[in-house]
Amino acid sequence: MTTATPGNRAPRDTEEAQVPVITDPQDFNEDSLFVDLQPVLGHRLALKCEGFNFAGSIKLKAATEMVEAAEREGVLRPGSILVESSSGNLGVALSMLAANKGYGFLCVTDHRCNLSTRRMMEALGSRVHVVSEPTPDGGLLGARISYVRALCASDDRYVWLDQYANHGNQRAHYRRTAPVVAAQFPDLDVLFVGAGTTGTLMGCARWFRDQGHPARIVAVDSVGSVSFGGEPSRRMIPGLGSGFRPAMLDESYLDEVVMVDEADTVRSCHRLARRGFLFGGSTGTVVSGAQAWLDHHDDGSLTAVAIAPDLGERYLDTVYQTNWVEALYGPGVLGPDTVPGGIPVVDMELTERQRADML
Ligand SMILES: Cc1ncc(COP(=O)(O)O)c(C=O)c1O
Repeated sequence: MTTATPGNRAPRDTEEAQVPVITDPQDFNEDSLFVDLQPVLGHRLALKCEGFNFAGSIKLKAATEMVEAAEREGVLRPGSILVESSSGNLGVALSMLAANKGYGFLCVTDHRCNLSTRRMMEALGSRVHVVSEPTPDGGLLGARISYVRALCASDDRYVWLDQYANHGNQRAHYRRTAPVVAAQFPDLDVLFVGAGTTGTLMGCARWFRDQGHPARIVAVDSVGSVSFGGEPSRRMIPGLGSGFRPAMLDESYLDEVVMVDEADTVRSCHRLARRGFLFGGSTGTVVSGAQAWLDHHDDGSLTAVAIAPDLGERYLDTVYQTNWVEALYGPGVLGPDTVPGGIPVVDMELTERQRADML
């Protein structure tokens, strides 16, 4: 990323206003923004926002790291077609990189991928394949991976980066996520990280361990995920959780695991939205898990950070749709403090005169 003054005009005085000027979309990533959640939760929890880049999520870092490594190793060449199993965000990041670098990209996903995310990938020139039949031992994720393997076996132009096993996934967070947290919060006591592929979790956990930093690392996962050995059950919110144990997960780096019900995820998202912060589903999970953990352990002295992987626009038809939420988690699940407040709802018929005035 280069910097320049707006419009490349000469700076007016010694207080030079530097703005980013980029050529490639992956060169912009604002990841040093934290939201103080003390007023919402009553604990000193800062939320590290990872949704401010052109791919809209933390997965841009993993995608960039994996693609650049594959290019260096000569695996990815002109004419290659990237293929990846993704619940959406990695797919969008790879779509963006593939478009920018001139590769093809086929994303293999399932019905939990938001419609707007699918459309975004297609708008960037990618193809999206949606699997619908889970495999008995690996669920929908197992079915996605079987499809990817079959594709790769059928044509050697396909390149599967395999985010579940690719070292670049966690290396991205080792290099770029954990150091930003520690620089901003040198006295960090506890870091909450959601677990999907566990790239973010393991990259951060390894970095803090290697630095000899004493921060506790708490993994947050969705009830129904089997990553940490739980019983599989329905999960509808993409991002966190897995139908099998992620290959890179190593619990010896973790201090604790908190499991969160999707109903609590949704409540947490709506609570943040009532403060004007529209975050994605997995952020609701991580914040809900962090709150439960802090309610139990914090005497008011702890400094805590949680990672918010994306923002809320991609979840308008799901997490932020009352019908969707109530159909899945039951009527009244949102509770009184999460429904729109302060606006009186007046049930009245308009008079003929009022109707005429409106026309
Ligand atoms: C919204 C969202 N949250 C969390 C995650 C989990 O991140 P990781 O795969 O690094 O565990 C993902 C991964 O795709 C995601 O899309």
